[in-house]
Amino acid sequence: MSLFNVYPLFDITPTHAQDVFVYDSNHIKYLDLYGGHAVISIGHSHPHYVKRISEQLQKIGFYSNSVQNPLQQELANKLGALSQCEEYQLFLCNSGAEANENALKLASFYTGKEKILAFKNSFHGRTSAAVAATDNPKIIAPINAQQEVDFVDLGDIYQVETILKQKKTCAVIIECIQGVGGLDEMPTAFYTAVAKLCEEHNTLLIADEVQSGFGRTGDFFAFQKHKITPDIISMAKGMGNGFPIGGILIHPNLKPSFGMLGTTFGGNHLACVASLAVLEVIKIQSLLVHAQKIAHYFIEKAQTLPKLKTVKGRGLMLGLVFDFPIAELRKTLIHKHHIFTGNSKNPNLLRILPPLTVQKEHIDQFIDALEKEL
Ligand SMILES: Cc1ncc(COP(=O)(O)O)c(C=O)c1O
Repeated sequence: MSLFNVYPLFDITPTHAQDVFVYDSNHIKYLDLYGGHAVISIGHSHPHYVKRISEQLQKIGFYSNSVQNPLQQELANKLGALSQCEEYQLFLCNSGAEANENALKLASFYTGKEKILAFKNSFHGRTSAAVAATDNPKIIAPINAQQEVDFVDLGDIYQVETILKQKKTCAVIIECIQGVGGLDEMPTAFYTAVAKLCEEHNTLLIADEVQSGFGRTGDFFAFQKHKITPDIISMAKGMGNGFPIGGILIHPNLKPSFGMLGTTFGGNHLACVASLAVLEVIKIQSLLVHAQKIAHYFIEKAQTLPKLKTVKGRGLMLGLVFDFPIAELRKTLIHKHHIFTGNSKNPNLLRILPPLTVQKEHIDQFIDALEKEL
């Protein structure tokens, strides 16, 4: 049987990984400044993470959501404390798209409305409503196009107001820093104005923190910089450091009822301990503060690079914008310098999404490589 060939692949076969390094079948050591697309938060194969998952697997790996699983409550408690979102309720699922799908569905249940407001250049996943709210016609099938979505320019508060006034929109979904779209972020006034309009018009505000959450930006969630209170917060990527887990945090105003949401695999024992291990390491190793410090170092060093137009993003969700398309440079970084980086919708933007454990010496290695190539 052949694989359904949807991914253009680099000819590299990772066989093992440790912290910020990935090793391939030819024994080449790669510096991972991509984190497997912002997934690796606490570093590859962190010993605490390996121990937690291995020990759990010896006991029980999975049972359905029809019985008690105290690990889910333990996860809710630790997540609430570390993120300072204690008052929210936690629903667990398996991926970022699924988190947004549940968030949008909940918003529609709650408000009784059907339309979505999303922003241009957004990426929210590939499932039904999530993909419809994603600004990329190439991945929207006719079946998804039935979903009614208004796409607004990020920052256009007048347009947001005009649409919400029509009283048909159940949710505004927003990445406070756009990931795939190219790291755009607006001033705080925009986010507070959107939150206010949502409240006025019985529309729920969904913060998509799938990529930016779990410490990636140096805050636990990216929206926290803007001091807004989303109704729903979606999470995934860094949450499990590679173990598939997603979730939504739901404001106490939204009340659950049996059967309203559900999943077979979501919140299973292994996924819970993976995410507990992530939270424990973030706390013990003070990774939020560390991410801020390294980001500061990175930005300072990057400023000296030739052909650089600007540095975008914050924390360890960063982008270098050059005055040329970066596709070839990215290949050179991988094949010649053995450094993984990412791309985005902006062809001139090189994306940096390393494990939060990355150190100054790794940044130096990257800057040296860039200096040689530019
Ligand atoms: C902001 C954002 N939301 C949602 C998703 C979808 O997550 P997943 O691929 O886990 O379904 C992504 C994936 O890149 C993302 O960056």
